[in-house]
Amino acid sequence: MHKKNTQILSSEEHDLDQAATLLLAGQLVAFPTETVYGLGADARQGQAVAAVYEAKGRPSFNPLIAHLPSIDAAQRYVQWSAQAQTLADAFWPGPLTLVLPLRQDHGISPLVTAGLDTLAVRIPAHPTAHKLLALVDGPVAAPSANPSGRISPTTAAHVSAGLNGRIAAIVDDGACGVGLESTIVGLATPQPILLRPGGLAAEEIEAVLGHPLMQRDAHDALTAPGQLLSHYAPNEQVRLNAMQAKAGELMLGFGAMACDLNLSEAGDLAEAAANLFGHLHQLDALNKPIAVAPVPTHGLGVAINDRLHRAAAPRN
Ligand code: TXA
Ligand code: MG
Repeated sequence: MHKKNTQILSSEEHDLDQAATLLLAGQLVAFPTETVYGLGADARQGQAVAAVYEAKGRPSFNPLIAHLPSIDAAQRYVQWSAQAQTLADAFWPGPLTLVLPLRQDHGISPLVTAGLDTLAVRIPAHPTAHKLLALVDGPVAAPSANPSGRISPTTAAHVSAGLNGRIAAIVDDGACGVGLESTIVGLATPQPILLRPGGLAAEEIEAVLGHPLMQRDAHDALTAPGQLLSHYAPNEQVRLNAMQAKAGELMLGFGAMACDLNLSEAGDLAEAAANLFGHLHQLDALNKPIAVAPVPTHGLGVAINDRLHRAAAPRN
């Protein structure tokens, strides 16, 4: 791939105009959302979407989320349902992605869905993301803006470290507030199913639905293609549920304890989620194995533990 000069843009209006113009011209633009930075491409342009896979080095069977500015916009591409409306009313805009059957004449590149007959849609809550999506006025496919398999980016500097020279621009608007990717709920099956734990706790979704979500079988490749186990991986080994660091290890703590960096001294899961990827990036830069303290397994802790297990999994 030939090197590009990656422009850094601000969240000012004229810079967002420029970002929208680049996207509509089929270029790749990274932008902040409340979860993580996304690597955006116009979802209707096959070449632009192909460039996303190329820039990330992403396996082509892993489908992308279409980002939209409003429910109305989402309804143009997917078959809406009463359940979709209930969840959208409760949680959109926000860190929730819904997988729904594609509509006829949707105009979405098949590279976005990796050939599936469903589409993942999300309306981010971040004001800059919202402004940019409104300017584009079309679906923007956006995976997390990191090389495939590496730690997700929660700042523009993380994006730049992984993708500088491979994409047209980065919209820099500070650190992401949630810090974990969106929770993905499948609504294309008779029962709503949790496809990926994320920045919205499953308990909150279940409270609105009035019943538990189906859990996806870890071995069922069909419902969530490409959810590779080794993902979000630092360069060095990661050891979980460690009470303290061994010689030569760096310690990522949770709760009051001795450590190199702490996800949340107060033991607050939302704070830990927001810090997770940034702290992993920082420790990873020191090129030593990382020991991680136990994190509770309820609420946002489910998604935090999911990402930690992937970081610690044998590499593939
Ligand atoms: O918070 C987020 O969701 C971020 C920001 C940028 O919005 N995006 C993100 O995208 O995490 P990505 O590409 O890293 O993860 C998308 C996940 C993948 O695991 C993929 O398998 C799943 O969504 N996915 C996408 N379309 C799907 C579909 N039609 N059916 C099932 N899973 C799907
Ligand atoms: Mg990702």
